[in-house]
Amino acid sequence: MLTDIESKLQGHVHYYKSTIHGISHLRAVSLLAGELAPPEFKKAAMIAGFLHDIGRKNDFGGRQHAVDSAKIARPLIASIWPEIDIEKICYAIEHHADGLTSPDPLIGAIWDADRITLSRLGRKINITLLSTEAAKNYLTAKRAAIVGAITDGQFPTTIDRLQYCADNGFLLHGSPTKGLSYLRGSRERPLCATQIPLYAMMYATTPTLHANVTIWDADFFYAEWWPPLNPNPTPTIKATPSLISNLAEGTIYVLESEKFKVGKHAVEFIAHEPITPIAAINISPSDVISFIKPLTSTEIKMLRECADDTLRNNPPAY
Ligand SMILES: [Fe+2]
Ligand SMILES: [Fe+2]
Repeated sequence: MLTDIESKLQGHVHYYKSTIHGISHLRAVSLLAGELAPPEFKKAAMIAGFLHDIGRKNDFGGRQHAVDSAKIARPLIASIWPEIDIEKICYAIEHHADGLTSPDPLIGAIWDADRITLSRLGRKINITLLSTEAAKNYLTAKRAAIVGAITDGQFPTTIDRLQYCADNGFLLHGSPTKGLSYLRGSRERPLCATQIPLYAMMYATTPTLHANVTIWDADFFYAEWWPPLNPNPTPTIKATPSLISNLAEGTIYVLESEKFKVGKHAVEFIAHEPITPIAAINISPSDVISFIKPLTSTEIKMLRECADDTLRNNPPAY
């Protein structure tokens, strides 16, 4: 049905080019809205889902794009699909960015589909802003499937498994300790976690990290992992040769992100209470070794000279 909608609109609409709100977002919202709506409203929900952001000219927030989208959608719907409830659909499009919920199953399905689809950007879904039971059930089933895949799924490598966790909104805590049933986060000593697999893997496989590192930045942190600088999902880390030769087996604990807040860095999240992991994944040095490059002695010297004083002898506990 989606291809039919797209072909009927061909030549009549202009698609905003964006990886966030471009045509892939329109397709995703259309398909999900069709799934969440009762069968008799499926077609209308898919048309509205596909047109809801058709007036976008940028990726910013605000409601103007929703008003513009409704203006563009109205004559198109009137001429191509005169049989559907144009007033309801245009109301849903015009108000989809107003933070509302609706008891109407068609309007609710359209708004819920957009909110759920945006969660791929790392935005948390506020369950209280979902209108339909179908959307809540969809999220519960999706979560169960994700947890199942994390636990039993087949992934070519360990880092692929961890990246899957991160892509689905879970956080990772690397620890040299095996078999923990809960992780201790407290007011005084928060539990730290990250969404960068390699980062957590380094913490899991370096049991001597805290004991031996005198200048934390210099021994470990000189890394090409910083996402804005390196969008590669499997970046490399540079570490001292002694740290590399002492790699050992460890565990990555997979954690729900709900109880975490953003820490000092964009890749650091902290929690002040005990957290029960949803899965524990064993890590061995062979899982990380291909991503680590040794620091040269010149680099080590340079890094030690410019290391951040606050991190000397005081490494964060991941
Ligand atoms: Fe929108
Ligand atoms: Fe949208």
